[in-house]
Amino acid sequence: MPRFNRLLITGAAGNLGRELRRGLAPLATTLRLTDRVEMAPAQSHEETVVCELSDFDAISNAVEGCDAIVHFGAAPVERPWAEVLDSSIVGGYNVYEAARRHGVQRIVYASSIHAVGYERREVGADTDTPHNPDSLYGVSKCFVEDLAKLYFNKWGIESALLRINSCYPKPRDRRHLATWLSFADLIQLVERCLVSERIGHTVVYGISDNREAFFSNHKVAHLGYRPVDSAEDYRAEVEAEVAPGDPFDPGIEYVGGFLCNYGHPDESEYLES
Ligand SMILES: NC(=O)c1ccc[n+]([C@@H]2O[C@H](COP(=O)([O-])OP(=O)(O)OC[C@H]3O[C@@H](n4cnc5c(N)ncnc54)[C@H](O)[C@@H]3O)[C@@H](O)[C@H]2O)c1
Repeated sequence: MPRFNRLLITGAAGNLGRELRRGLAPLATTLRLTDRVEMAPAQSHEETVVCELSDFDAISNAVEGCDAIVHFGAAPVERPWAEVLDSSIVGGYNVYEAARRHGVQRIVYASSIHAVGYERREVGADTDTPHNPDSLYGVSKCFVEDLAKLYFNKWGIESALLRINSCYPKPRDRRHLATWLSFADLIQLVERCLVSERIGHTVVYGISDNREAFFSNHKVAHLGYRPVDSAEDYRAEVEAEVAPGDPFDPGIEYVGGFLCNYGHPDESEYLES
């Protein structure tokens, strides 16, 4: 029996959105999928809406009639300020405000490790660690985490803020041995955030059961998230392919990794992860 009548996924054409589209299908009678780009055609249990997150009226229409929102659409890494502002900050506001107007009670948001990227590796963080962003991208994640707090305290909309670390098919470098999140664990985490009886305003790190980790989820046992995958299974492969780095390089010193080495996105050339 599906838990929800209609569940909205934003960013549904993206790498993680496509995984959620598949993995969350059993939870809802209808999945409503939105993105600014075309998605794979809707199946019988799906509805697709192509629109910009910065267009409030379009987002409001997409949110209307939904029971919960899984908000993954955003500038997915450091981008020029105008794009971070439009897609992530204005887009985040539009989703929360549309939820308030249409009575949606729960949102699962794709925040990021980069909300606390300037924490040192050996110090680490837990879910009460204050914001310490390493980029404009990280600032946009802090903004939506705080927006979620306002909408919970004032209007009772519950949110899970998933500080996703590195969600890929498998770990690609030595940092990922600590930060990797498998697709299966991502789906389990989002599902737990949707079905747990009460989540209030919960920050949780999106990581698999890695031996190394920069973060602790010990304060969010109420979610019942039990990751089943581990980066450890890939250690030998990764260590054979990637040499150890300089421990005093900011990309190694800080948990945000590569983004701690980037300049301002409007001024300098920068690489995508
Ligand atoms: N992949 C990771 O390891 C990781 C880590 C931390 C956080 N996240 C977050 O998870 C979310 C999904 O990441 P992803 O890896 O799937 O990225 P992605 O780029 O593959 O997906 C993002 C989707 O959002 C859509 N989008 C962007 N701007 C939009 C706009 N203005 N209007 C409508 N749609 C827009 C894009 O078209 C894209 O399909 C992002 O919010 C990202 O910041 C991902």
